[in-house]
Amino acid sequence: MNIALFDAKSYDRPAFEKYGSKNGIRYKFLEARLDEDTADLAHGQDGVCVFVNDTVNAAVIDRLHALGVQAVALRCAGFNNVDVRHAYGRLHVMRVPAYSPYAVAEHAMAMLLTSIRRTHKAYIRTRDFNFSLNGLTGFDLHGKTMGVIGTGKIGRVFMDICRGFGMRVIAYDKFPGDGADYVSLEELYAQSDMISLHCPLTEETYHLIDANAIMRMKKGVVLINTSRGALIDAEALLDGIKARQIGAACLDVYEEESDIFFEDVSGHIMDDDILARLISMPNVLVTSHQAFLTQEALDNIAQTTTENLVTFFNQGTCPNELCYHCGRVDECRKHRLEKCF
Ligand code: NAI
Repeated sequence: MNIALFDAKSYDRPAFEKYGSKNGIRYKFLEARLDEDTADLAHGQDGVCVFVNDTVNAAVIDRLHALGVQAVALRCAGFNNVDVRHAYGRLHVMRVPAYSPYAVAEHAMAMLLTSIRRTHKAYIRTRDFNFSLNGLTGFDLHGKTMGVIGTGKIGRVFMDICRGFGMRVIAYDKFPGDGADYVSLEELYAQSDMISLHCPLTEETYHLIDANAIMRMKKGVVLINTSRGALIDAEALLDGIKARQIGAACLDVYEEESDIFFEDVSGHIMDDDILARLISMPNVLVTSHQAFLTQEALDNIAQTTTENLVTFFNQGTCPNELCYHCGRVDECRKHRLEKCF
């Protein structure tokens, strides 16, 4: 089985080589991202393996389909970069629904602690033998209120971590479950000292955090986004920071990250004025979509992606296949036929 793995990075290779060789899959590691210009690199391949910033739109799907590619294996959980409606009937799309919720939830907390206790600034100071504490005053998490939007796998781990710090945790989810103190979005905005986003990016959640939402939050609120960039209107965020309405922002994802994140652009002029301005703020911490990046997560991702492909090519079905009918009780074929089409 031949699989073209687009947007390959050095940290992807060891685990994919290990699970590929064990399971008869030859991964062809390509540095290029998948898009309309690079789709032809999948010539002669049975499937493609893609990540968050590869483009799997209608044109790419048509090209891959014409080349005889049968499957798109996402090596991530989110699939907002795939036109699943257009893929239906053409390409089977599968994903890694969970690989380490701990990796992402722990990174969210790491960013929060770094931001509010200024350890990133202290690290730079002490390396320069500057032992002054001026400007490093933080605040206790104990007793503060954390608002969590999206209480799925990652949100739940994050809530547990916050409770371990003695925080009061409130939550909002479109489909609330058990084990959380659910409130309306309005109440969450009004009561939270910090807000962490753990819901998927959908048409409904696009710019969930806009100027209007920011206005309804507590003055000085800390925002944490390790989910998807476009959940936040970046321009509104910048305005909120300038107006001192937002006390700090911890961003592992950014709306326009696709041409920038994961790459070294240090020798280039930054075209994105909003990102450049955000990064220049003393109370904004940006990491480059790094929350997933632990050894455990990389290993689980490679293992599940490989198992998805093996199951699909050997049995014609895959439990982790998805399509735009998935979850719709009347239309979902998978729960009857074990495959989306
Ligand atoms: P999940 O599917 O287990 O949980 C998502 C939760 O969001 C569910 O409880 C769902 O009901 C809720 N939700 C759906 N629509 C909503 C809405 N309109 N408003 C409020 N809540 C809504 O997903 P999981 O594994 O917890 O991942 C969450 C997100 O984290 C993913 O969608 C992905 O975008 C992001 N992620 C980021 C990574 C990173 O490296 N920064 C790595 C992995 C995931």
